[in-house]
Amino acid sequence: MPELLYEGKAKKIWATSDPDRVEMEFKDDATAFNGQKRGTILDKGVVNAKLTTVLFTVLERAGVPTHLVRQLDDRRLLVDRLDMLALEMVVRNVVAGSLAQRTGLQEGTRLTTPIVETYYKSDALGDPLLNDEHVAMLELASPERLADLKQRARTVNRVLSAFFAQLGILLVDFKLEFGMRRGEVVLGDEITPDTCRLWDAQTQVRLDKDRFRRDLGQVEEAYQEVLRRVMQNAAL
Ligand code: TMP
Repeated sequence: MPELLYEGKAKKIWATSDPDRVEMEFKDDATAFNGQKRGTILDKGVVNAKLTTVLFTVLERAGVPTHLVRQLDDRRLLVDRLDMLALEMVVRNVVAGSLAQRTGLQEGTRLTTPIVETYYKSDALGDPLLNDEHVAMLELASPERLADLKQRARTVNRVLSAFFAQLGILLVDFKLEFGMRRGEVVLGDEITPDTCRLWDAQTQVRLDKDRFRRDLGQVEEAYQEVLRRVMQNAAL
């Protein structure tokens, strides 16, 4: 029986016989508002494992190093073990969620230029927004490393915005987590409808976890629709 190294809200991390690699298993469990709201999204784990595999493969092809090695089965990926930074990088193209709350801007307002935000990955503190000086003060990343992380996040945004646009999906915003692999910065964690806002480009229908967060219904259907469009893309 492999050793369970870590269990988070949506994933489990298992040890492998290779100390440099771990297995990432995607669960159907869903939480929101720092774990206050809990539920299950049927087959979310299957959808998210596949989507992370496809999106990380697209990013690798575009020259963005990721932790993905390969998909092992419908819920599990083999990935490089990373020493994760305690930062969450959020990129936004359109006003939504906490940016709407913080600024009073209308959800759906297109930003003239994408913005990158930095959050402190701390469940105890509720993942607060940090400015660059807070990041330096907390020694979460040097100014040079932070600039590099923002640059990588912008590159991911360019690649994925174009990818989703082909599928009739607007990439509103998303969250990334990076880690270190032998002194090198690598994109880790997942990219899924749990960690992105994805809107139908024509109708603005929400195809992401906001359906769960906001009780909009048709949650499973939204995840399946994203997967269906991604897998239909002829380029894959
Ligand atoms: P926010 O508008 O709530 O700050 O969310 C911005 C993006 O980050 C959105 O695409 C959802 C994603 N996100 C996560 O992946 N994990 C989280 O814990 C939160 C709060 C947001």
